[in-house]
Amino acid sequence: MKIFLDTANIESIRKFNDMGLLDGITTNPSLLSKEGRNPKEGMKEITEIIKGDVSLEVVSTDYMGMITEGKRLREYGNNVVVKVPMTSDGLKACKTLSSDGIPVNVTLIFSPNQALLAAKSGAKYVSPFIGRLDDIGQNGMNLIAEIKTIFSNYDFKTEILVASVRHPIHVVDAAKIGADVVTLPPAVLDKMLKHPLTDIGLNSFLEDWKKLHEKTGIDI
Ligand code: E4P
Repeated sequence: MKIFLDTANIESIRKFNDMGLLDGITTNPSLLSKEGRNPKEGMKEITEIIKGDVSLEVVSTDYMGMITEGKRLREYGNNVVVKVPMTSDGLKACKTLSSDGIPVNVTLIFSPNQALLAAKSGAKYVSPFIGRLDDIGQNGMNLIAEIKTIFSNYDFKTEILVASVRHPIHVVDAAKIGADVVTLPPAVLDKMLKHPLTDIGLNSFLEDWKKLHEKTGIDI
C-alpha cells in the first residue's frame, strides 16, 4: 500500500520523506491556507522534494477554469496530479485532462457511484473521505470496501486513495481491504510509528548496556 502525506507543511514532508516513507503528497486549499505562506512557492517546493505524485487542487468550479488551472498546476512538475472536485464539470475536466496525459485525482467522493463515475472519466485516483463519513454516523470504511469490490469486478485501473484518515486503525482497515493508497495527516503517521513497549524495551536495553559498560569500560 502506498503512503501519501496529507499536508502542505514542508517540515513534516521532509521529516517523513527522510525516513523513506512517502510515496506522494496530497494537498487541498484548506491545507495550503493553514500554512499561510505564498501557495505557489509552497506547491513548487513540495513537487521538488517529493519524487512521487503530488496532488494539487483546482479552485475553479467551471470546466474551462479547471482546465486552465490544471494545466497551470502541472507546470510545477511532472509529478503533479490535478485534483478536481466530484462534480459534472469536475468529471468533464477529468476526462479532458486524462486524455491529454495529465493524471487526475477526483476528490470529495462520498459514495460508490461517485467513485465508479470518476473511474469511468479516466481518473488516476479517487479520494473517498472516510473520516467525514464517520463524523456524520456513516461507516467510511464500508465505502472503501464497496469501491474495492466494484473496481476489482471490472478491472478498473483507477487507484483508491483513502482520504480524511483520522487514526491508525483506519490505516490497518484500509490495508486489509486492499486500498491502493492512504493519505495521512502527519499526526497519524507519527502515531503509527510508536508503541509503548518499544520505548520500554529500548530503555531497558540501554540501562543494561550502561551497567555492562560501567563494569568493563568497553564501548561498541
Ligand atoms: C485529501 O486529499 C483530503 O483533502 C483530506 O484527506 C481531507 O481530510 P479532512 O476530512 O481531515 O479534512
